[in-house]
Amino acid sequence: MLKITHLHKTFFPNTPNEKKALRGVSLTLEEGDFVTVIGSNGSGKSTLMNCIAGVFYPDKGHILIDGVDVTRMPEHVRAKYIGRVFQDPMKGTAGDMQVAENLAMASRRGKPLSLKWSSKSSQLTEFKEALKELDLGLENRLETRIGTLSGGQRQSITLLMATLVPPKLLLLDEHTAALDPKTAEKVLNLTQKRVSEGNLTTLMITHNMRDALRFGNRQIVAFRVTRGNAVRPQRLHGRRGIKHCIALPRVCQKICNRVRIIRAASAVSL
Ligand SMILES: Nc1ncnc2c1ncn2[C@@H]1O[C@H](COP(=O)(O)OP(=O)(O)OP(=O)(O)O)[C@@H](O)[C@H]1O
Ligand SMILES: [Mg+2]
Repeated sequence: MLKITHLHKTFFPNTPNEKKALRGVSLTLEEGDFVTVIGSNGSGKSTLMNCIAGVFYPDKGHILIDGVDVTRMPEHVRAKYIGRVFQDPMKGTAGDMQVAENLAMASRRGKPLSLKWSSKSSQLTEFKEALKELDLGLENRLETRIGTLSGGQRQSITLLMATLVPPKLLLLDEHTAALDPKTAEKVLNLTQKRVSEGNLTTLMITHNMRDALRFGNRQIVAFRVTRGNAVRPQRLHGRRGIKHCIALPRVCQKICNRVRIIRAASAVSL
C-alpha cells in the first residue's frame, strides 16, 4: 500500500545549520496495517510524515501509494489519497466555517474542485449520523462555527473529516497530544473505530508507548542519531521479526518482539 524507499531529507544543506532529518529510510505498509511510530524529539517522525503528505519533497528516494509514485506529486494533488490529523487541533479544519461546511468540504475528497461544495439536505443527515458517533452532542450544532468549539471537539471533527471518504492512507501526527486524558482516550477510541471500520492503512505518531502497543499492529522506533551515538547491532539482532537493530532504550527492549526500528539518520529497511 505504502512503499517508501531510501528516503533522504536534509534541511539547510551545506550550511552551518544543516540538519539531516532522514537518511535512507525505507518502510512498507501493507493494506490495513496500523503502524505506530514512537521516538525521541527531533528524530524525524514528522519529517517522514510531511514527505509522505507532500508538505515538502524528499531529496532522494521514492514514495509509492497503492503503486502510484507520489514522490514529486504536489501536496494538494496527493491529498486525494491521504487523510491527515495534526497535533494542533486548530489545523485540519476551517475555523471560520460551520461544522456542516467543513464536513461538506471533506466529503469532496478526490472529486474535482468547484464552488458547488455546499451541503445538500441528504448530506446533512449523513453528517448528523457521523457526528452522533462522536458522542459530543455535535449532531445538533451543524451550523456552529468550528472556531468556537473546544480543541477536543475540533480534533474529533478533524478525524471525522479525514475519514469521511476513506483515504488510502491515514496519517496521524500526535493527534491527541494537545487533549486532556479523557478526551484523548475518546479520540483514540474513535480513531480505532474509524480505522477498523474502513480497514484503513494508518501511520500514527505518538509519544505514548502504551498507545503505540495498544493500537498498532506494528511499531517503529525512530532515533535521533547524534555524533556520539554509535551504530551497533545489539543483542536483539537476529531475533524473530527483527531485521535491523541498533542501540535501544530499555523500554524498547521489553517490547522488542513487536518493534521494528528506523533510525532517522541511517539507512535501515523495514
Ligand atoms: N521545515 C523544517 N525546516 C527546517 N528544519 C526542519 C523542518 N522540519 C523539521 N526540521 C528539523 O528536522 C529534524 C527532525 O524534525 P521532526 O519534526 O521530523 O522531528 P520529530 O521526530 O517529529 O520530533 P517531535 O517528537 O519533537 O515532534 C529536527 O532537527 C528539526 O529541527
Ligand atoms: Mg513531530
